[in-house]
Amino acid sequence: MEKLIIDTDPGVDDAEAILMAAAHPNATIAAILAVGGNVGLEHTVRNALTIVEVLGQDIPVYAGCATPLVIFQEDAAHVHGEDGLGDVGYVPKTRTAESEHAALALLRMANEAPGEYTLVAIGPLTNIAVALKLDPKLPEKLKRFIVMGGAVTAHGNTSNVSAEFNIYHDPEAAHVVFEAWEAYGGLIELVDWEATMRHGIPETVIKTWHALNTPKSNFYKDISAKTMEFIRKYMGRTMMFGADPLAMAVALEPDIVTKAEVRHVSVELTGMYTRGQTTTDWGQRNGRTANTNIILELDIDRFFALMEQGLK
Ligand code: BDR
Ligand code: CA
Repeated sequence: MEKLIIDTDPGVDDAEAILMAAAHPNATIAAILAVGGNVGLEHTVRNALTIVEVLGQDIPVYAGCATPLVIFQEDAAHVHGEDGLGDVGYVPKTRTAESEHAALALLRMANEAPGEYTLVAIGPLTNIAVALKLDPKLPEKLKRFIVMGGAVTAHGNTSNVSAEFNIYHDPEAAHVVFEAWEAYGGLIELVDWEATMRHGIPETVIKTWHALNTPKSNFYKDISAKTMEFIRKYMGRTMMFGADPLAMAVALEPDIVTKAEVRHVSVELTGMYTRGQTTTDWGQRNGRTANTNIILELDIDRFFALMEQGLK
């Protein structure tokens, strides 16, 4: 049984990832930590609460950091909607967030049950960097750590062309996190934007999910319409990209991975087009300890099946 702590900035694909995790027979969601990212923290906390209500499960939501450690770069409201969930009006009816800060909740849980929790980070890494500054031993207290972020050959998805959104939103936080795992000698399981692009979800598959006509599939259909329109208009594709669910699939079923490479990854902090780039030592030349298991390929049919299971 995977006991998950999900750090997230919901976000349309964050919502899909959380639905997937909640439906998995071998996983429980112990906590959701919200962070500012796709949209502001007030929206991401509210959206996390909405998602928990859609699930009908009693999952605590903790509010974390509203802004990046140093500089606000950009948000992704143009992809996810101004409210982060497609601007279709979903709001939580009864639930409210816990009073504890997300970074403190993460440390408390990791200390209460060392080695038991799998942390899945599907937003900017600000909360986790803050937690690491408070307790540098956090990595050794986690079972696994999965990150959606980066672009390992610099094919990014932000205005800083080589950088991916979660890393570019808070490069300093990402730098802290990747250095911490290097110091620990452990491996971050990384699902990057390029892997996401290789595992796109065709419209034909999405239509079968819409046809399920369940409360969850209708929620998914409503919140994802705006993102699909963005992808059609600005990327010229009639499909969805599920960055966060792809990372969640790796968290839930590690054997879904069919190809991965262990390398050293560092985060660039400077440069007009390189700030936020995840520079990968593909040639293994820098002599530094590998800190990342880069997920390159996974079983796409199993991925689609996990997505569908989350919408039933
Ligand atoms: C990541 O950025 C966000 O917009 C998505 O939710 C995902 O976590 C993809 O680059
Ligand atoms: Ca996200």
